[in-house]
Amino acid sequence: MNAIGPFFRQHARKTLLAATLALLGSASFAQTSAKLKIGLMLPYSGTYAALGNAIENGFKLYLAEQGGKIAGREVDIVKVDDESDPSKATDNVNKLIKRDNVDVLIGSVHSGVAMAMAKVAKDSGTLLIVPNAGADAVTGAMCAPNIFRSSFSNWQPGYAMGEVMAKKGIKKAVTITWKYAAGDETVRGFKEAFEKGGGSVVKELNLPFPNVEFQALLTDIAATKPDAVFTFFAGGGAVKFVKDYAAAGLKKSIPLYGSGFLTDGTLDAQGADADGLQTALHYADNLENPKDKAFRLSYAKTYKLQPDVYAVQGYDAGQMLGIGLRATNGDATKKAEFAKAVEAAKIDSPRGAFSLSKAHNPVQDIYLRQVTGKENRLIGVASKALVDPARGCKM
Ligand code: PHB
Repeated sequence: MNAIGPFFRQHARKTLLAATLALLGSASFAQTSAKLKIGLMLPYSGTYAALGNAIENGFKLYLAEQGGKIAGREVDIVKVDDESDPSKATDNVNKLIKRDNVDVLIGSVHSGVAMAMAKVAKDSGTLLIVPNAGADAVTGAMCAPNIFRSSFSNWQPGYAMGEVMAKKGIKKAVTITWKYAAGDETVRGFKEAFEKGGGSVVKELNLPFPNVEFQALLTDIAATKPDAVFTFFAGGGAVKFVKDYAAAGLKKSIPLYGSGFLTDGTLDAQGADADGLQTALHYADNLENPKDKAFRLSYAKTYKLQPDVYAVQGYDAGQMLGIGLRATNGDATKKAEFAKAVEAAKIDSPRGAFSLSKAHNPVQDIYLRQVTGKENRLIGVASKALVDPARGCKM
């Protein structure tokens, strides 16, 4: 007994030591046993506040479907209100990485904020999924193996609407938007297709983001008398623009078109002033594929609200995260495996299934929609499986 006891104790100690070393040696164990920390950087105030909330709702709906876990890991969400302010974005994102030690970043809505996030993500190697902002550079010149987008590029809806308007035989258009990446790039995409199709942009009107003093610009449109107006506005600014356009008496005389953000998530507030407007976007309210039906039902039940494009993009950011992390057993540091899985995936989105381009931007149908009552109703496909040109992306 006395001779055997120490032998067993020594053996047990060795086994325990070996097991401990194995565990310590396995970064994966340490990584995947802790909660997955997700930094959710979105606007919760200002003109895009409703957009941030819808993205969070969509993301959380996905999470709830997974029983609150992603790839077996419990989730801890750290939220930041980025205020759609690019000048605060680098500090905000650095705090999430360095102070809060997030494993993954999800954000944001505003293109300027997203470009700051992409720069930090690229430099630090942190996984980033952009659930709205369309900044072309995010999946263009700034593209990186650890940066993904569940939404669109600014070029996409602009280009699709340019094709549609040229095909309608519209010749002279005025554009009006906020002067920052989203407005500039949407208009650039529009102009590219519209002029290729025989139209010409006779005037490009701008005002600083997020200003809504449209009066002088509307007077200019009335005096210029184009065949049509093309615009990018979103959120609170889009509500005011559509109302002011109608109040100025322009709706009857000069047809207004836009990228679909003009009328998405805004129809309750715009009321009859939005009725009949045609826009292009990667979502519509009556797609009625099985995934969309289930999504809309579940969203309405959970939030007592109808979903919009932002909710879909938040939900799909969740789906992309789930696909990537399941391939790494929940380890957010295995970036190559994460990327390989997401790159190979067909994402079963409420918008219709999509895959990612080489630059990690959705390759997707852009729908032509028309406002009828409180819905953006599908009236056709403006552009099928539209691929962003990803100018400047070297990956
Ligand atoms: C953007 O800044 O990229 C942006 C913001 C709101 C939208 C779409 C794009 O609805």
